[in-house]
Amino acid sequence: MSVPFEAVKVSDHVYWVGAIDWGIKDFHGYSVRRGSTYNAYLIEADDIILIDTVKAPFKDELLSRVASVTDPGNVRYIISNHSEMDHSGSLPAVIDAVKPEKVFASPMGAKALGAHFHMDQEIIAVKDGEQLDLGGVSLTFLETRMLHWPDSMVTYVADDKLLFSQDGFGMHLATSERFADQIPERKILEEGSKYYANILLPYSNLVTKLLGRVSDLGVEIDILCPDHGPIWRKDPGKILGLWGEWAAQKPTNKAVIVYDTMWGSTDLMGRAIGEAMQAEGVHVEVMPLKTCDRSAVVTQVLDAGALLVGTPTINNGMFPTVSDVLTYLKGLKPKNLVGAAFGSYGWSGEGAKQVNEILSDMKVEIVQEPLAVNYVPDYEALAGCRALGAAVADRLKEVVGSGS
Ligand code: FEO
Repeated sequence: MSVPFEAVKVSDHVYWVGAIDWGIKDFHGYSVRRGSTYNAYLIEADDIILIDTVKAPFKDELLSRVASVTDPGNVRYIISNHSEMDHSGSLPAVIDAVKPEKVFASPMGAKALGAHFHMDQEIIAVKDGEQLDLGGVSLTFLETRMLHWPDSMVTYVADDKLLFSQDGFGMHLATSERFADQIPERKILEEGSKYYANILLPYSNLVTKLLGRVSDLGVEIDILCPDHGPIWRKDPGKILGLWGEWAAQKPTNKAVIVYDTMWGSTDLMGRAIGEAMQAEGVHVEVMPLKTCDRSAVVTQVLDAGALLVGTPTINNGMFPTVSDVLTYLKGLKPKNLVGAAFGSYGWSGEGAKQVNEILSDMKVEIVQEPLAVNYVPDYEALAGCRALGAAVADRLKEVVGSGS
């Protein structure tokens, strides 16, 4: 069924033909409060080439945008830069609809697409650095393994100095504007850093290597076309530079204090710790899990230098919400943090110790043994909280001051 969606011209040869998902709020556990886009692109040359597709429910939106440029049956080639379902979910249906002559992916992409969709369609594997002339346009493929899946690759269009970067340099942000220069910088920074923290953080070393490789190759990029969020047609160096900074994870004079509470004691401890750190000149983000979700926490951790985590003890363990956020943080492997655990307890008191173990596993430099307070903190216990905050603040200032 044809629906009235239109393509947006990006460059001499390229149109955006993706979909806007205004309604999504949870992207496999990552809270995307401003929605997302699934960007697909059409190269219009002597032949028509489709770069990536969209999440399955948005297939008609994609085909409608293609139809605003050309009959979808004219699509001769499809290139899949990334096989995750938000970009490949509609691929089988699109193949059925347009009947392309050839479909290309990286070697790992060809395997992954086969394992996802079990299609009859042959997927032709292109090698790292391979260059193809399709429809009179030169395309170069670079594998970007584990950025952020094993199959990931990017495609460079030399004629337009344009890079299709799949998930790279993207963000989850649904807007009516297609270009970064049309969107307030504050939104770009908020959603760009959130995306990096929630998706790319564990692969930061590879991001640094990729940026170095692109620089060494001397590839000129005038236009950067990611698979989510805005397209960079002016100053793509801005988002490349931001990714370089986020990948470095240089600690700053900022502490994140995250906790949950049963009857208010751990909340009081967390706020007292934060107050002491502020008094030492540290910028503090206090994040009670009653109102802050795991995606917001890791976003704040991205440029922090200290992480303090608090929990009550319940049923001989930490609070479930604290366990959730620590599982998420541990998987995302933030680096260069100092910190500590704290919490209140009634009789057994395992919670703060368990948090401390996980922080140690995460290679957070533990400044002080876990601080556990029985039931409700009194004046003396709160003085202990302030002392913990001051100790972590002192160590943080040493680390930031030394530039390590
Ligand atoms: Fe946007 Fe890894 O998919």
